[in-house]
Amino acid sequence: MTTFLVTGASRGIGMALCETIVARGDRVIATLRDPFRAPEFLRTAPAAQVAVIGLDVASGESIRRAAAAVGEPVDVLVNNAGISPKGRQNALDMDPVLFTETMSVNVLAPLQVTVAFLPHLRRSSRARVATISSQMGASVYPGSDRLAYRISKAAVNKAMQGLANDLAPEGIAVAAIHPGWVRTDMGGPAASLSPAESAAGCLAVIDGLTMERSGGFYRWDGSVHPW
Ligand SMILES: NC(=O)c1ccc[n+]([C@@H]2O[C@H](COP(=O)([O-])OP(=O)(O)OC[C@H]3O[C@@H](n4cnc5c(N)ncnc54)[C@H](OP(=O)(O)O)[C@@H]3O)[C@@H](O)[C@H]2O)c1
Repeated sequence: MTTFLVTGASRGIGMALCETIVARGDRVIATLRDPFRAPEFLRTAPAAQVAVIGLDVASGESIRRAAAAVGEPVDVLVNNAGISPKGRQNALDMDPVLFTETMSVNVLAPLQVTVAFLPHLRRSSRARVATISSQMGASVYPGSDRLAYRISKAAVNKAMQGLANDLAPEGIAVAAIHPGWVRTDMGGPAASLSPAESAAGCLAVIDGLTMERSGGFYRWDGSVHPW
């Protein structure tokens, strides 16, 4: 049984990842900002397969408390929590508060959460870190709308490449994954993939994540995404 820790499990892709992990017989430590508002299946699943804990990835104190609350090895950390706030996000008109908040949740948090859970990952015989990024951060995918979000995903890709370098001596593999365009609150109803389809693809990429593939940027369908 593989133990996953997923951030942002309250809805969207994070919730679908947890559902798929449980359905295939693995274990998930589902983390959410408000654990009292966990989806029904997380509250009713067998304790052998699901643990629910509070984690606001934008808070250093919350990250520390969550790491202290987990007393077991973690095989796979999935940095899924992310935001794309509505507001001024243009090159010529950028809301500095919105920009800083987007960088905090989408870029800094995946690094800080990974560092906090390194002791748990080190106890795994095959530790992996997967960060849900976006094609919106790729330089081959031009566009200037939602620029804070685009910048944050470009930055987190670089952050994961650096993390992969630093964790290579320990045999911990790291990848950034574009989950597709997904029908969630963020992706909207017109998106092409269901959360379940995206989650299944992302988990297949994670299953196949070896040290040889560490440091890469992949699509949910397993293909390599150009930077
Ligand atoms: N949907 C798409 O088409 C798409 C495409 C490319 C990449 N992505 C990426 O996929 C990931 C998941 O997106 P989604 O579509 O599932 O978005 P979503 O439906 O908006 O869900 C976002 C999740 O992140 C959580 N979150 C936000 N801020 C948080 C914080 N400070 N601490 C902990 N959790 C926090 C939310 O929790 P609350 O319920 O507490 O707000 C929610 O669970 C994101 O990283 C996103 O950038 C999505």
